[in-house]
Amino acid sequence: MFSDQTNIGINGIIRIPGDKSISHRSIIIPSISNGICEITNILKSDDVLRTIDAFKEMGVKIKEENKKIIINGKGLESLKQPTKDLYLGNSGTSARLLTGLLASQKFDCVLTGDKSLSSRPMKRITNPLTEMGAKIKTNDGKLPLHISGSILKNCKIQIDIPSAQIKSGLILAALNTHGTSFINEQNITRDHTEIMLESFGADIEVNKSDNCSEIKITGKKTLTPKNIDVPADLSSSAFFIVAALINKNSNVTLKNININPTRNGLLIALEKMGAKIEVSNKKIRAGEIVADLNIKSSELHGCVLDHEIAKLMIDEFPILSIAASQANSPSYFKGLDELRVKESDRLDLINRNLINCGCYSEIKNNDLFIDPTKNKKIVNPEIRTDFDHRIAMSFAVLGSRIGKLHINEADSISTSFPFFREQFNKAGGNLS
Ligand code: S3P
Repeated sequence: MFSDQTNIGINGIIRIPGDKSISHRSIIIPSISNGICEITNILKSDDVLRTIDAFKEMGVKIKEENKKIIINGKGLESLKQPTKDLYLGNSGTSARLLTGLLASQKFDCVLTGDKSLSSRPMKRITNPLTEMGAKIKTNDGKLPLHISGSILKNCKIQIDIPSAQIKSGLILAALNTHGTSFINEQNITRDHTEIMLESFGADIEVNKSDNCSEIKITGKKTLTPKNIDVPADLSSSAFFIVAALINKNSNVTLKNININPTRNGLLIALEKMGAKIEVSNKKIRAGEIVADLNIKSSELHGCVLDHEIAKLMIDEFPILSIAASQANSPSYFKGLDELRVKESDRLDLINRNLINCGCYSEIKNNDLFIDPTKNKKIVNPEIRTDFDHRIAMSFAVLGSRIGKLHINEADSISTSFPFFREQFNKAGGNLS
């Protein structure tokens, strides 16, 4: 895909698709509830389709009617042994959450994925599950995972890695376990699983203090079905937000965007950088806070971000780095270790591609330093993405500001945002 400058800015009311994290959970949780759930505005991207396929393969009746997904759940222990390996494509969320859920079922199964997913660390979820009695064989800590059906015991586990996927996998394991489990996270991460389970009547209690949270969950409680209206995804909005900020003559409105405080780090960071973003019309949708955002072209300043905020915006560093590269002063983003183990080594790709685009960037002990006062002309317009959707969309946005870039393997964008190119061009972008 080629991305070239936009002369008219980025404008209009843009339709942002449903939140990816909530869409996965909107398949998983209804599938183990007792009854029928209707899901509207679900994200139909490759990742979420892999989760849907996995549950269909395990005998769950999932159909689409009038733009709604209808799921007929039959309870915590209703899943059937799949007749083939469950292929989860590129989706880390499906892999970690399903490992937790399936470790506590009675049947054996195998989880596989694409090249990128098969290189990502799985011990972070299989180790704590093993403490609960799970039997999982890994390929040296990676996929494929061979899960043997087991009865798990309740647990008291502390999670040191900041990861909502680990936390959610453990919560799903605890749901089908007798007794009460305590899961403590040392870093607060996105809490969509806890919010949705509470609304389905699970016996779950969350206590947050400072930067930690303790989740107490008693298993074997029947989940009551609920309809879910999935809010729009802040992570997908981020590309339009930054495109509007860095291009002149822009004015964009995004509606019903999820601004859950465990996910809103990007808005906090951009505000520090002087972005003109107006938040209005706050309301609750599917237990989540949503709002409309209006964004106008802005003169951005650089900023320093601490480790703490990284957990609240872990997926947004590629696009925030693009904003930082077009600001009028340097930025320093700290504690980006987890970016090394995302769909690609994102820290390396951000740095390498920014340098090729003539933007000054440097990695110092997994911190990122970007100094736009030293920017030069584009050195090499080829953007390497390693099939990472967020790297592809971020550099498409940079192209809209600095000139023609060639984004390799841009098909990956369908992982999270199937109509990105069409939406971006409708708003004034120049993607071909
Ligand atoms: C996600 C959690 C995050 C995020 C991913 C989606 C989720 O991963 O990067 O895109 O849906 O729980 P980690 O929990 O591994 O940080």
